[in-house]
Amino acid sequence: MLNKKELFKLYENTDLLTKIFIRIKLKICPFLKMEKYFPRRGEIIDLGCGNGLFTNLLKLGSKERKITGYDLDEKKIQIARKTQEISNSGINFYHADILKIDYPESDVFCLSDVLYLIPYKQQYLILKKCYSSLRKNGLLVIKEIDTKPKWKYLWNFFQETFAVKILNFTLGRNFYFRGENEFKKILSEIGFKVKVIRLDKGYWYPHILYLCYKNNLDTER
Ligand SMILES: C[S@@+](CC[C@H](N)C(=O)[O-])C[C@H]1O[C@@H](n2cnc3c(N)ncnc32)[C@H](O)[C@@H]1O
Repeated sequence: MLNKKELFKLYENTDLLTKIFIRIKLKICPFLKMEKYFPRRGEIIDLGCGNGLFTNLLKLGSKERKITGYDLDEKKIQIARKTQEISNSGINFYHADILKIDYPESDVFCLSDVLYLIPYKQQYLILKKCYSSLRKNGLLVIKEIDTKPKWKYLWNFFQETFAVKILNFTLGRNFYFRGENEFKKILSEIGFKVKVIRLDKGYWYPHILYLCYKNNLDTER
């Protein structure tokens, strides 16, 4: 069972805003449920890892996961690296633009609340890069905000507008949300077999998870 206190301890040396942010994020985002869909061992690349909250949670979930995180926001990467001063768990955090870098070969890619900040054509290129960099039977996990139900989507849109455009809390200028059917269409065009998990029960946000398999559809999870 994942221990939230252990996770908060990693952020002990960060500023007050980060400490508040991670506590709120854990309340409004189903990170604990998401973690269970990741294999317990193998290499994981977290694209757009932010301050490393979910990345650290994955590592706390299983020491056998070898994890690397990339983010465009240098300040967030510095915060993520601070957590490594405490845990020394071997996660590598890099400052990088995931649109520009080549991806290393990996067993799993994670895109958690990142694609909606990236223009549609570039989203497609990222997904294709993930597909070609995944090993056989590899998995891409995408966590996004669905466009349904409408009231949850609109609530999220309002909150994101505040975070991205007013507080500048997240890098980005516009939003590029896609609905479930559109996601499934482009992911299968690329070659993925897709399983959709809705994770919005009990949340004000329409959280949705896409488990995208390169070769097989693992229905055991
Ligand atoms: C809403 S945050 C999500 C962070 C983390 N994945 C999570 O689930 O908590 C979106 C992150 O995507 C990052 N991002 C946006 N565009 C990016 C790009 N082109 N390359 C790398 N990171 C990017 C932002 O800097 C931000 O940290």
